[in-house]
Amino acid sequence: MQSGRSCLAVILAAGEGTRMKSQRPKVLHEVAGRSLLGHAIAAVMAAGADAVAVVIGPDRPDVAAEVTARLPSARVFVQAERRGTAHAVLAAREALRGGYDDVLVAFADTPLVRPGTFQAMRSALAAGAPVAVLGFEAADPTGYGRLVSRDGVLEAIVEHNDASEAERAIRLCNAGLMAMDGRHALAILDAIGNDNAQSEYYLTDAVAVARAQGLKAVALDAPETEVQGVNNRVQLAAAEAEFQRRRRIAVMKGGATLIAPETVFFSHDTAIGRDVLIEPNVVFGPGVSVADGAVIHAFSHLEGAEVGPQASVGPYGRLRPGAKLARKAKVGNFVEIKAAEIGEGAKVSHLTYIGDASVGAEANIGAGTITCNYDGFFKYKTTIGAGAFVGSNSSLVAPVTIGEGAYVGSGSVVTRDVPADGLAIARGRQVEREGWAKTFRESAMARKQNMAKSKD
Ligand code: UD1
Ligand code: CA
Repeated sequence: MQSGRSCLAVILAAGEGTRMKSQRPKVLHEVAGRSLLGHAIAAVMAAGADAVAVVIGPDRPDVAAEVTARLPSARVFVQAERRGTAHAVLAAREALRGGYDDVLVAFADTPLVRPGTFQAMRSALAAGAPVAVLGFEAADPTGYGRLVSRDGVLEAIVEHNDASEAERAIRLCNAGLMAMDGRHALAILDAIGNDNAQSEYYLTDAVAVARAQGLKAVALDAPETEVQGVNNRVQLAAAEAEFQRRRRIAVMKGGATLIAPETVFFSHDTAIGRDVLIEPNVVFGPGVSVADGAVIHAFSHLEGAEVGPQASVGPYGRLRPGAKLARKAKVGNFVEIKAAEIGEGAKVSHLTYIGDASVGAEANIGAGTITCNYDGFFKYKTTIGAGAFVGSNSSLVAPVTIGEGAYVGSGSVVTRDVPADGLAIARGRQVEREGWAKTFRESAMARKQNMAKSKD
């Protein structure tokens, strides 16, 4: 990739603000079920990074753990004090010494950068620019660094606090990301001083420093939606909205029909096949795949689940982690499935809980069936054979097996295994008494009339 140039990505995740008003560090807040930090890591990896270094604040074992969970090979560096973005990059000095051709700097609080944008910055390096920065037209430039150019040549980035009136009038702002040629990166970073309004070491000064060293800096463009940062929960919601907007388009372009796309919510890893129909108001948690031709009816919630080809879920279906629907399986309204396989063509149509179970092909599970999988301490498995028929309102007390082709009478509480092709009925026996209701009614009515008379 990128003409065979090696690449180190340095992701800055230190220097927490307080505007999230949260116990959780900002970069662990999530967009589409993945942390902001996770998005940044995924983006640089997709842009071909060979190594990733993440710079975190002191005493942040939770952030370090997230880095390792997302990318075990990533190296974690601690910036002991918040002294600016250039200072933060230099916390990863050991990694910068690794002799990489390209050094990419990304912010962990900027989750929507497309891998192609990072690749374009790397291409600028490959084309001979020692420094490449990313600019965008800000609707409101307040607070951003401004890209200062003369005769089309990028001269410097000036932070808002340090900018003159004339510079503040510039609308082209710095997205914050940077790409540097690895041969020059350390020399440039080490030459950056902190003589500015905030007495911080600004990464943005890399542009002016590079020029002073006789090196060229170029600016690339990105849409504002791609480089929007997250500093508070309003911006977190804006990032989520942009992520969902993009994903809905990708899913539709991939061959799925979304009747009301703006009401369907995906996770970062949702996989949707072709000719899938997704009705309004559906939520996908992490870890869901939906195969070709499946239908997800309205108001369904799925997480950690596999929906097979031409299977259907809902309306009001709930698939929890470990739910696995084979081809043409049907899970209907108000049905919850957890850690259970539903075989090919099997039907679980109404008001049912199937947990820690396997349901064979073409089995029919009647309305109101419950697998009693939990005794308050341990979970047990229910096995329902192919072609079995479980009558409505049955409780299957696990561990228990319903053999292939067996019948369970409605309203049964099944506590023992049912043999293949057998019948189990486990409920109170029905008794009929001829005329009982009529006699009862007449005597009750007479008693009531007598009581009314004695009151008068
Ligand atoms: C930065 C840019 C600004 C740009 C803006 C885009 C600098 C000096 N300024 O400003 O030009 O327009 O982003 O959003 O780079 N960080 C550390 N350690 C530090 C300081 C920051 O790790 O000592 C990390 C932060 O966690 C964050 C990133 O660097 O992920 C950016 O820091 P922040 O303070 O948000 O920079 P801005 O003022 O927004
Ligand atoms: Ca910021």
